[in-house]
Amino acid sequence: MNNTPLTRADLLALDAADPLAGVRNTFELPAGVIYLDGNSLGPKPAGALEVARRVIEGEWGTGLIRSWNDAGWFELPARLGDKVAGLLGGAEGTAVVTDTTSVNLFKTAAAALRIQASDHPDKRTIYTQRENFPSDIYILTGLAEQLNQGRAGGAAELDTWESVPAGAAPYRVELVDDAEVVAWGDGSRPVPEDAALIVLTHVNYRTGRLFPMAEVSRAAHAAGALTVWDLCHSAGALPIALRADGADFAVGCTYKYLNGGPGSPAFLWVAPEHVDRFSQPLSGWWGHTAPFAMSPEYAPADDVRRYLTGTQGMLSMSVAELGLDIAAGADIAAVRAKSLAMTDLFIRLVRERLAEHPLTLVTPEEHAERGAQVSIAHPEGFAVMQALIARGVIGDYREPEVLRFGFTPLYLSYADVWDAVEVLREVLDDKLWDTPEYRRRGAVT
Ligand SMILES: Cc1ncc(COP(=O)(O)O)c(C=O)c1O
Repeated sequence: MNNTPLTRADLLALDAADPLAGVRNTFELPAGVIYLDGNSLGPKPAGALEVARRVIEGEWGTGLIRSWNDAGWFELPARLGDKVAGLLGGAEGTAVVTDTTSVNLFKTAAAALRIQASDHPDKRTIYTQRENFPSDIYILTGLAEQLNQGRAGGAAELDTWESVPAGAAPYRVELVDDAEVVAWGDGSRPVPEDAALIVLTHVNYRTGRLFPMAEVSRAAHAAGALTVWDLCHSAGALPIALRADGADFAVGCTYKYLNGGPGSPAFLWVAPEHVDRFSQPLSGWWGHTAPFAMSPEYAPADDVRRYLTGTQGMLSMSVAELGLDIAAGADIAAVRAKSLAMTDLFIRLVRERLAEHPLTLVTPEEHAERGAQVSIAHPEGFAVMQALIARGVIGDYREPEVLRFGFTPLYLSYADVWDAVEVLREVLDDKLWDTPEYRRRGAVT
């Protein structure tokens, strides 16, 4: 594209040549909606109702308890885990689909710290981004607090956990700016020597910034640290090569770019060299090597299944498989190329057509630093987003002031990008956001 102003016809021409255009039919979206919130909740794949019906009527209704074996329910977390590992450049047998991202982060961070307690007992600091999704920070802080209770010698000491030697430094969580993480990646600053663990969200939920997995993992290893990557905003959105990029652990959700359904189970991935080194602390019966032996002693499974804890929701997990299969069938390089083209286009149109409005681009412009969303700040961001949603352009809002627009190439067209910018222009030009109705907040923004 050159610098002459774009027209909608230019974008229709791009759509006509789009190799991913046909994938839109694998989703069912309501008429009159431009859905720019697949970074929060992916839309419904066609066939979701049929899968739910099969599970409810056939497997549950008719099969009853027999379905744990006959319908393969018990194997589903590992079977879907293999599909996730395939999407993320991990080896077979290294991932499971289970629990939530928050719970999986607890399990993996705990397992990583146990490895470090053995390999580098002097390292006790967990580094993570100050701007990280808050749940990640809460989980890591809670984990550090739990570990330190043992150190104090109190009654709360976890008997499954190696206690920290008396006089040793406590576990702690250190929050760092994004610039610090970037500096580790480009080698301009070393990873701190006390780093046991570096827990990073690959694409930031609010800004859409992408962090360099290979470079940061290499820097972490050079300093003797391990890494846990939160892939909530990158899995399904861009190519990921966990093995090649040297990640140690990864977690993420299936309900965003993997279109698994509201609250669908999360995934957890462990590098093969770490899989059987330590068992994770939520050592429930599903992670046991022989769950139905009903032994009072815990003996972890010898593979990634040791990261399972208890019974999973089979309905939700069965439906989630549809989204994983759509992702597996799409060419992720083409997905990435189109999402960069769409986000470039959105940024350009906002600049060309909305220049007089107080909009500030929050997302980095460099392709290497951008995920699949564009975040734009506006002083009345919340009300502006409500006005957009009322007109069928669905994005979302994050404090402070940030309008988030997710660009998911599987079901969006270039003309959708044009149309969304036109609705935004109307909302801003005519101050359509300026009503009490659009300032009222629900529990979820
Ligand atoms: C980056 C990131 N990490 C963690 C979470 C928490 O996920 P869950 O609610 O499945 O624990 C989210 C949820 O949106 C997220 O965006």
